[in-house]
Amino acid sequence: MSERGGEWDWAMPDAGKLPAEIDTTKPSIARVYDWFLGGKDNFAVDRQVAEAALKIAPGAKEAGQQNREFLQRVVHHMAAEAGIRQFIDIGSGLPTQGNVHQVAQEIDPSARVVYVDNDPMVLVHGRALLATNGSTTVIQADARDPRAILESDQVKEFIDFSEPVGLLMLSILHHLNDAEDPAGVAATLRAPLVSGSFVAVSHFCNPGEVDPAASQQATTVEKVFNENLGTGRWRTLDEIMVYFGDFELVEPGLVPLPEWRAEPGLAVRNSLLYHTYYGGLARKA
Ligand SMILES: C[S@@+](CC[C@H](N)C(=O)[O-])C[C@H]1O[C@@H](n2cnc3c(N)ncnc32)[C@H](O)[C@@H]1O
Repeated sequence: MSERGGEWDWAMPDAGKLPAEIDTTKPSIARVYDWFLGGKDNFAVDRQVAEAALKIAPGAKEAGQQNREFLQRVVHHMAAEAGIRQFIDIGSGLPTQGNVHQVAQEIDPSARVVYVDNDPMVLVHGRALLATNGSTTVIQADARDPRAILESDQVKEFIDFSEPVGLLMLSILHHLNDAEDPAGVAATLRAPLVSGSFVAVSHFCNPGEVDPAASQQATTVEKVFNENLGTGRWRTLDEIMVYFGDFELVEPGLVPLPEWRAEPGLAVRNSLLYHTYYGGLARKA
């Protein structure tokens, strides 16, 4: 019997016929995140990690949702306010509701999106997506090799680097540890972008003395993530700022996710996670 969290709702082989590279005995970042978002594409091993994190940080599901809402607001801003028509989404995750291509193509159906993720399950989903959307593609690639991403056939085919690009690195850089040089990865991916391009980042944050209780919680959840997933870095605001390089932050800057151009009334201040998840959008002048 399948260990999967719910009904099959897309063209995935049944559990016995999963592609060999999908390992259901080890938790995967994409599938743990899927569970936090209420998705069905996760296995018992993923749910154990998610539930352990939830015990320490009861607001974790809400925080995941706030990250998705941030994604939708930054993509909408880039597409509707700044006319961006091509996006590269690094560490895109499993498709859920309000994906980048859906938000962008609501503004312009011809907007192009390249999803990049190293989780094989994302690629399986991507194949199903490709059958219905010719402006969107998915590649399985590792963010730790950003040059290979930029030189891939799909990026070359879908992205015109003489025009502005929206580069998304949402909740991915905190899954690169310091030795994997996330700042270098971000710099390499920003390098070919022309004036008028954007980079969006969301990232786990350790607020330190700004919010000692949240800081302590961040340290404890960081331990759970690292013991089970082998990744997860709650960085300081100064460390996160580096990922924008010389791009200029648009208002309101690097802020807790609910504060980024949210509809009035959306900001949630009572969660301990409030100061542990930041996001921002910056434009190349
Ligand atoms: C927490 S999810 C974020 C999904 C989406 N960007 C969002 O913000 O809603 C992080 C994603 O990054 C992917 N990821 C982690 N490390 C990666 C790497 N080295 N290269 C590419 N993708 C990676 C995971 O597989 C996962 O799908």
